[in-house]
Amino acid sequence: MSDDFLWFEGIPFPNTGLQPEILRKLHDEFVIKDEDVITVTYPKSGTNWLIEILCLIHSKGDPKWIQSVPIWERSPWVETNIGYKILSEKEGPRFISSHLPIQLFPKSAFSSKAKMIYLLRNPRDVLVSGYFFWKQMTFVKKPKSWEEYFEWFCQGHVIYGSWFDQIHGWMSVRQKKNFLLLSYEELKKDTKRTVEKICQFLGKTLEPEELNSVLKNSSFQAMRENAMSNYSLLRVHSVVDVPQLLRKGTPGDWKNHLTVAQSEAFDELFQEKMADLPRELFPWE
Ligand code: A3P
Repeated sequence: MSDDFLWFEGIPFPNTGLQPEILRKLHDEFVIKDEDVITVTYPKSGTNWLIEILCLIHSKGDPKWIQSVPIWERSPWVETNIGYKILSEKEGPRFISSHLPIQLFPKSAFSSKAKMIYLLRNPRDVLVSGYFFWKQMTFVKKPKSWEEYFEWFCQGHVIYGSWFDQIHGWMSVRQKKNFLLLSYEELKKDTKRTVEKICQFLGKTLEPEELNSVLKNSSFQAMRENAMSNYSLLRVHSVVDVPQLLRKGTPGDWKNHLTVAQSEAFDELFQEKMADLPRELFPWE
């Protein structure tokens, strides 16, 4: 396996499981249906947590589905070869996940009524989470050190490209009626209220005991123990040497890893890159 990225339209991608021809077809031809529910995130922002919640809302809190079907089959990543195939062949409403920047996302999405949820997370925590996750994976280019990864992240030289660019892209559609913007931080701070907000957006109602079951079965501990959601299945099939997906699960872990100089440099970069967007979009700032 080559120790480099797959480059497509100037953006680095994992070098396994994705193909330029599929990425091209995905943007031009893939049809998003009005009934689809789409999760979009920059990697390591809490994607799997949101998917688990959506699946549990769908099953009204019944954990049977999330405990019997791997998370990547319940809501496949549309840009992967396998996800593209599963989703293209699936009839009826679909759960779709993606980390794509907006310019590479299926263009049909923007004229459809499909519900899209974008989950944001403090990029400093995204950076730390990504460092611990990707450094053990075989299909992404590995940094020699934490310092090197920090530099790569700041320059957007990591899979799916620059966090700053991706956020700018997706924030341009945040006012659309079928677009819900959430943050990992609010999901963590008041999970119940945020799940209720998701239900309202999806037009779903849950009985109190169903809501409690959604919360219980999507908790950090429950997900860590659920082999269908914690990625341990990949380890069993020895596809890759998979690190712990559910590592810490807290906002602010970056404080344990960024040096004072890195933290100052990142603050400056954030100000410079995000100055044109309203501060209230970023509850951690
Ligand atoms: P940490 O590495 O900071 O612990 P993604 O799903 O986009 O890859 O994001 C992974 C991050 O989401 C990890 O962050 C993981 O711990 C966190 N996460 C996953 N499920 C969670 C849950 N139920 N509660 C809180 N955090 C969760």
